[in-house]
Amino acid sequence: MSTSPAQNTPLRLGLAGLGTVGIGVVKIVQDHADVIAARTGRAVQITAVSARDRTRNRDADLSAYAWESDPTALARRDDVDVFVEVMGGHEGAAYDATLAAIAAGKDVVTANKALLAHHGQALALAAESAGRVIRFEAAVAGGIPVIKALTEGLAGNQIRRVMGVMNGTCNYILTRMQSAGLPYETVFEEARQLGYLEADPNLDVGGIDAGHKLSLLAAIAFGTQVAFDAVELEGIGAISIDDIRLAEDMGYKIKLLGVAQMSGRGLEQRMTPCLVPSTSPLGQLVGGTNMVVLEGDRVGQIVMRGAGAGAGPTASAVMGDVIDIARGLRLPTFGQAAATLRTPIPATSATAAAHYLRMTLLDKPGALAKIATALGEAGVSIDQMRQYSHEGSEATVLIVTHKATRADINAAVARFAPTGVMVGAPVVLRIEEV
Ligand code: NAP
Ligand code: HSE
Repeated sequence: MSTSPAQNTPLRLGLAGLGTVGIGVVKIVQDHADVIAARTGRAVQITAVSARDRTRNRDADLSAYAWESDPTALARRDDVDVFVEVMGGHEGAAYDATLAAIAAGKDVVTANKALLAHHGQALALAAESAGRVIRFEAAVAGGIPVIKALTEGLAGNQIRRVMGVMNGTCNYILTRMQSAGLPYETVFEEARQLGYLEADPNLDVGGIDAGHKLSLLAAIAFGTQVAFDAVELEGIGAISIDDIRLAEDMGYKIKLLGVAQMSGRGLEQRMTPCLVPSTSPLGQLVGGTNMVVLEGDRVGQIVMRGAGAGAGPTASAVMGDVIDIARGLRLPTFGQAAATLRTPIPATSATAAAHYLRMTLLDKPGALAKIATALGEAGVSIDQMRQYSHEGSEATVLIVTHKATRADINAAVARFAPTGVMVGAPVVLRIEEV
């Protein structure tokens, strides 16, 4: 791949999507035209735009731009050099128009993690065989330049592990439950009122949105094809205020944490609620902010924190990509040629970790011993055990295990029900070393 000096001709953008991110892009292009031209040596202009509803008031002056109701037609226009896709969705318009843009010889900048999580490899192959680039900084952790860090600044490292809190809505919900002592359902509703939730809230609270992002980081970090289907996904819906309090009591915070690492058994990708030490940078992350932690063999650990969503931060990332293209920087989509990306062998939670188990037991002689025996029979050793409040004939018991794989933990949990002392199902959370 090459870097060529920026030409004097303007770089012309076709902007598909005039929602939160699209209008954020319009505002940067309009407000920062001089500084962008100074930094790239050429003007960056929007020539044409597309959205569904032409009559909508969008709080921006769009009068200088041609209108296309069909984003695919926009992608093919002769006066467009870069197709900026900020519509969303992984099928239909976004996919069709992106392919059309590549076929028409345009570079692509997108904020669409779902599109790349589902079609990243095919799109990267198509772009690279057409000599075009696809950039997607805005798709992962909004304004945090994590793709740039992995593909450029850390390119001389073997990446050991990538971790992150990459869904601001989930972090808002979990930290608000903790600080206000409110139950999940109440804070979920609050998040809805504040407009934090995606149209399909399960994308947020089910971990899917953050799982999309993790799969993209893993591809770059480990030189593997995007494997979103292999991400172990668990949302935050089962986390109770009791778990948050008990975790805090032991010096931990609960986060929806993404972890990707390559072990001898293959590629582990998890987006699950985890306990992290309260004193760690991840443990101290509050509200809707994102944090990405990168670990390289030579650089050690790097922590990046910032806004993961919103018009300004997301458009900032889109424009970082546009400016790279204006400057002539042309990198492969996932940091190395798409044809050289390996098919990953999925290894679900192969790395052992301590686990937190909260359970309700019948408060009768021998109950705890039966649970301890079930753990022992599955080869899981107990590190800490506490018994909390009695409610009638039931008691809350908290167990922290020594390191064990999730498979061993699951084997132990499968032995709990036949003991006849367990009320309901236990809550099982991994304790991640960060
Ligand atoms: P949004 O506010 O819902 O805006 C989507 C825009 O796309 C709207 O202008 C809509 O037109 C247009 N659109 C949708 N389908 C279309 C179609 N078939 N043809 C033409 N236009 C179409 O979405 P957003 O929040 O800006 O998000 C855009 C993308 O950025 C998504 O991929 C999202 O995941 C990603 N992203 C967003 C954020 C964030 O903070 N919002 C952060 C990171 C990444 P109308 O306005 O006429 O309906
Ligand atoms: N729903 C996402 C979040 C928006 O809460 O972080 C940015 O991808």
